[in-house]
Order: sequence, then structure tokens, then C-alpha cells
Amino acid sequence: MKKIRKAVFPVAGLGTRMLPAAKTVAKEMLTVVDRPLIHYVMAEARAAGIEHFVLVTGRGKTAMEDYFDHHIELQATLEAKKKNEILDQLMADLPKEGEISYVRQMAPLGLGHAVWCAREIIGDEPFAVLLPDMIMDATPGCTRQMIDAYEQTDGGSVVVVEPVPAGMAHQYGIVALENQEGRLNKMTGMVEKPAPGTEPSNLFISGRYILQPEIFEVLNDRKTGAGGEIQLTDAMLKMLSAGSPYYALEYDGKTYDCGDKLGWLRANVAMALQRPDIKGVRAMIETELKR
Ligand code: UTP
Repeated sequence: MKKIRKAVFPVAGLGTRMLPAAKTVAKEMLTVVDRPLIHYVMAEARAAGIEHFVLVTGRGKTAMEDYFDHHIELQATLEAKKKNEILDQLMADLPKEGEISYVRQMAPLGLGHAVWCAREIIGDEPFAVLLPDMIMDATPGCTRQMIDAYEQTDGGSVVVVEPVPAGMAHQYGIVALENQEGRLNKMTGMVEKPAPGTEPSNLFISGRYILQPEIFEVLNDRKTGAGGEIQLTDAMLKMLSAGSPYYALEYDGKTYDCGDKLGWLRANVAMALQRPDIKGVRAMIETELKR
């Protein structure tokens, strides 16, 4: 079984739910407390042993290239002011030279298309996909849990799932399972936004995947689906229907969907509450509620 060495981060979406900020600030660069969303997700992948990071970027997304690069003036200033702790942390957060690649999705044609754009860099090996607008708060990290689960399979594909909030299944991709026992189960199908009452399980696809390189051949046909976009779910379903094994992993942790305003606000509060260096968050919220 081939090791999972590479991860794809699709960051080329328009982020219309985060307008007006997303007009000029990439959604993935919006900060949760004091670091951009992409920072959390890269850290999760690094902690899982990923060796090469592929960012699928687009128009207006170049800030991410600068974020993961040296900043000579800033480094010199921090050094001169002896702010060594901050400097060391900034340096530790950087990928090493050659560990990160950027490929441009020339038009935001959908998540499936974004993943397909990484095909030449990924080559013929299984790889991880992480959606940067989902912060997965877990120990060990969600990608680590997913790779551990993958290693228990026969070399199939893995999608991370979690229970859908009551009455919300019609807004998500829902998996169908052979059996629902324990956390890792073989899938028999998946449905994008099922009509209320028709959902095949209570588990939705939540933004982390391990995919086999055959997905690129399926995506080659550039077939559009829901919303006129090239959907990753459609390509996965096609592979599954052709007999390629797919597994759903119900991971152990909490997900923060930062793709809309309320979810992003919730992530800010939750992450700030966990930070020992930021005191008084709870009191600040209580005071604000009374004002
Ligand atoms: P979303 O489904 O959240 O889409 O994409 P979006 O376009 O960014 O946001 P809305 O719905 O308009 O508010 C999930 C992830 O996939 C990337 C996005 O950047 C995001 O990180 N994506 C989506 C692409 O890279 N390319 C696409 O064509 C679509």
C-alpha cells in the first residue's frame, strides 16, 4: 500500500458567502483569532506526516504564497528587537523549501475541477484533500485519524463524515453505508443534498478525503453536476459504482465550518476560548450580551 505523502488544498473558490471581505481577501486567509484558516489546515496536514502540499489557487489568492514564504524585513526587525520567540514560531510554521507547490485553477469550475488541476503534481499515488474552510479540532488531528483508518483498508478511498445537525441533511452530501458499526464503514453510495426524509444515513461528508489517483481519469471528462460545477462527489460516486472501494470515517473531534459567517464567528469564539494566552474571552462575551 502506498504511503500518503501529498495533500491538495483547493483554495480557488470565490467565497461568495463571505462577501464583501472575500472580494479582495481570499476566504482561506480570513483569520480565526490571529491566524488564517489555511494555517490551521496546513498544520493539521503537517502533523499527519504529509510531505508535499499542493495549493490549487486562483485569481486574488497570491497572499497565500507570501504567507508561506520568508519575509526578510519582518524577520530582520524581529531579530533586531530580540523578539525571538515570535520569530522562531513564524519560522517553524513555514514549510521547507520545495515542500509546497501552487497550481492555478484558471476558473472556479467546482471542487472536482480544482482537485483535477493538481493531477500532474500528484502523479500516480493516493493523496489527501483538505478543504481549508473546515477547521477540524481533534487530537490526534483529523488527517492523522484519516490516514490511520486508510491503513486499515484494502487501499480504497476514505471520506471523513460526521453526524449532520437535525433537519439539515438536505444541505449536505450524505453517505450510504453497507453497515453502520464503529467509526469506519464501507460505503455503498452518496447523495448530494437529498430531499428531506430520503437521506440514506445521518452522516455528511465534511471536507477531508483520501483519494486514489484514478479519480483524475474520472474527472477528465469535465462533466458538470449540481450548480453547473464539476463536482468531486459525482466523480467519487462514479468510481464507487464501478467497484472502487470507498470508506466513511466518522472521526473523533469537532468541526467548524468557516465557509459562512455564523460558522466563522463560532470558530473564532471556540478557538479563542482554547487559547491560554488570550484571557477573558468568556467574560467579554457575557459583557457584550448585556450591553
Ligand atoms: P465552497 O463550496 O465553500 O465554495 O468550496 P466557495 O466558492 O469557496 O464558497 P461560496 O460557496 O461561494 O461561499 C470549498 C473549498 O473548495 C475550494 C474553495 O476555495 C474552498 O476552499 N474551491 C471551490 C476551489 O478551489 N475551486 C472551486 O471551483 C470551488
